[in-house]
Amino acid sequence: MCGVIGYAGHRPAVPLIMDGLRSLEYRGYDSAGIAFLQNRKLDVVRAEGKLANLSAMLVTRDVSHATIGIGHTRWATHGVPAVRNAHPHKSNDGTIAVIHNGIIENYQELKAMLLERGYVFYSETDTEVLTNLIAEGRKCNDSLPDALRWAVSQAAGAYALVVLSEEEPDALYGARLSSPLIMGVGTGENFVASDVPAFLPHTRNVVFLEDGEYFRITAHSWEVRRVCDNERVAKTVQTVQWDVQSAQKGGFKHFMLKEIFEQPKVLTDCLAGRLISPDLPVRLPELDNRPIPGRIRIVACGTSYNAGAWGAPLLEAWAGIPVSVEIASEFRYRDPLLQPDEAVMVISQSGETADTLASLRLARERGAMVIGICNVVGSSIAREADAVIFTQAGPEISVASTKAMCSQMALLVLLALYYGQKKGTLDVGVWREACDALRALPTLLEGVLPEMRNRAAELAKSYAQAKSFFFLGRGPCFPLALEGALKLKELSYIHAEGYASGEMKHGPIALIDPDFPTLAIALDDALFPKVKSNIEEVQARRGRVLAIVNPGRELRADDVWTVPAAWGPLSAFFVLPALQLFSYETADYLGKDVDQPRNLAKSVTVE
Ligand code: M6R
Repeated sequence: MCGVIGYAGHRPAVPLIMDGLRSLEYRGYDSAGIAFLQNRKLDVVRAEGKLANLSAMLVTRDVSHATIGIGHTRWATHGVPAVRNAHPHKSNDGTIAVIHNGIIENYQELKAMLLERGYVFYSETDTEVLTNLIAEGRKCNDSLPDALRWAVSQAAGAYALVVLSEEEPDALYGARLSSPLIMGVGTGENFVASDVPAFLPHTRNVVFLEDGEYFRITAHSWEVRRVCDNERVAKTVQTVQWDVQSAQKGGFKHFMLKEIFEQPKVLTDCLAGRLISPDLPVRLPELDNRPIPGRIRIVACGTSYNAGAWGAPLLEAWAGIPVSVEIASEFRYRDPLLQPDEAVMVISQSGETADTLASLRLARERGAMVIGICNVVGSSIAREADAVIFTQAGPEISVASTKAMCSQMALLVLLALYYGQKKGTLDVGVWREACDALRALPTLLEGVLPEMRNRAAELAKSYAQAKSFFFLGRGPCFPLALEGALKLKELSYIHAEGYASGEMKHGPIALIDPDFPTLAIALDDALFPKVKSNIEEVQARRGRVLAIVNPGRELRADDVWTVPAAWGPLSAFFVLPALQLFSYETADYLGKDVDQPRNLAKSVTVE
């Protein structure tokens, strides 16, 4: 996820774009850049790190005559955070600058084609490919918009891009597919950005671009057309009433809620370029030149550990690789016996968690290959792992991790499929079903989230006064129970324990009384009858039970919460947001600081 902004107007563009970028910084902050035209000449300034670094560079420049420009704040997906990878990217002839949010899945193929035609690349990004593709398109098209239409029709993936060119010094062009792009309509000035707060101080009149549309703005005009046939689209100007702060949260009350609702998009992005069709194997080029491990040791903390515990059985079942899962703070101080063919897989959203990083270093010292599953490009874990696969979930602002776990689980599914295909252990039927089900997930999830939230809010009110909670599950639902308990305790400060439901009678059930409720996850799988029996054991001690079930499963409980079922293990992608929403709504109902719970930090860089 990155932030883009463009301005065409009568005021100095650079300070205005810098202000806009400040309110987009939550979308990415590893580098930033700006392009503008003065005397019809294109100029680009870029800096690594936070926006302050870019501001410092601009202080020494006279940019006061620029009234048109584009700006970008980056969250790396291709290429480490560095000036060369920062946007805007310039075409080889220096006349076109492009900013982009999204992922071009076929950029390697496009790059190869452009290299053959003599183009040179100075970055590792997909955006520089897109920029030169537009320049190449200009050679065989009559106009810049036609070149843009041609270029985006070659590109597969997601994009919200904005183009500034010396050829049309008064205009900005741009297009979107699966990444947000919104125009702001002003008086004698027009804006475009990936989010409304970027221009909210200047105008509340907005036009939302849809997939497959492209726009042209100047200071005094704006229009939207379809990429496919160049037909003009009649758009309505809408007026937004948000203030800047709520706009940054996309109108959601908290970042956590926004991030929960982002999960359909996170799934799409995580699968992009990796799961292409049932006829092609999973693509994880990061692992192609690495040996297939004989065993895997997953090492992680907190929510990332829970994701690993959920994914481990899939790697065993589909890829036939024995997997163990360990808490990083334990692993690092043991004397772990690593087998010569054993890979250590570290999972971390931030890529900076001290215990996970220390485990990575220990594993490497012992000669193990380390595979990193990480969200932050350029983080320590991403840099030090032998191979790193990015979850592509975008910045996670809320301290309570939500969308990161969703992306880690999706990546573990892909890894199990990938290794299963490479080893020939994966049944073709399983592959086809998994592929179809994964591709359907984002849309299904998007459809159910609003109603899921309503039900979570209703249940939260009824359970918020509990002092303690059990979360129970078996098999793949046990790690989900751990995650449900972790979310509830960290957000609402209600004591909560996740247990394998079969373990209850070995001690914990002694705690059950009418004031100690249990949330039991009883999905439509082979373990359902067992979980049902465990629920009855709790009820026999007069325990109150809230059961998460799939449609069609009969169960007697104080509250039954039905969530959709998906193929095989993928039902977890519906249970996870239900648990997240239950904790969110409970904490919000109790008036807790949802985005920044007490005593916690987003990234635990100390022991
Ligand atoms: O950045 P990491 O994934 O390495 O972080 C690991 C944990 O600190 C993190 O998941 C933590 O448990 C969250 N607060 C859970 O919501």
